[in-house]
Amino acid sequence: MKVVGIVGSVRKDSLNKALANFVAKQFEHKFEMEVLTLENIPLYNQDIENDAPQEVKSFKEKVAAADAVIWFTPEYNGTMPGVLVNAIDWLSRVNRVMVGKPSLVMGASMGALGTVKAQAHLYDVLRSPGIDSPFLAGANQVVVGAAHTKFDEQGNLTDDNTVNFLDMVTTNFVEFVEKNN
Ligand code: FNR
Repeated sequence: MKVVGIVGSVRKDSLNKALANFVAKQFEHKFEMEVLTLENIPLYNQDIENDAPQEVKSFKEKVAAADAVIWFTPEYNGTMPGVLVNAIDWLSRVNRVMVGKPSLVMGASMGALGTVKAQAHLYDVLRSPGIDSPFLAGANQVVVGAAHTKFDEQGNLTDDNTVNFLDMVTTNFVEFVEKNN
């Protein structure tokens, strides 16, 4: 199974990027996940959507070729960061590469409930016609709080409860993707 992980933070020491890299490595026996970051994706502009910049084309090709997407969203001002919304806008237009493609949402923050609101908004967007992605939620919602205390220097997640939870969720996700593809 091929998965792309889309990270909604472009900063070097992003906790969400660390979580994505950890998931890719820890669960490589379940799926092959390429982590995609968004620093080279230009602002969405309808004037150029039919001949989008190369960075956008290759981003969309990678998403199109994947069996599923795992989203790693920070929370900015109670919602998703603009870079993530911008990427979603590109994905939703011309060739709608997300339609029907299963999703799972995760988020890491320093607070306890950080990313809950951003994730709720992302679920809503996943239901929109241009994205229309079936997603695994409910008990499988991954909210990694106090994330800055949970990684070691090598980027390993050291919190056993979180690792065990991720193990359960990713197993459920593989089953969900198989049912939805
Ligand atoms: C934040 N942060 C934040 N956290 C939160 O739980 N709720 C929020 O509404 C916000 N708002 C917010 C706005 C802006 C502009 C910034 C820069 C930060 C804190 C944020 O969750 C924290 O910086 C995370 O570490 C960001 O994710 P990455 O970059 O570590 O992946």
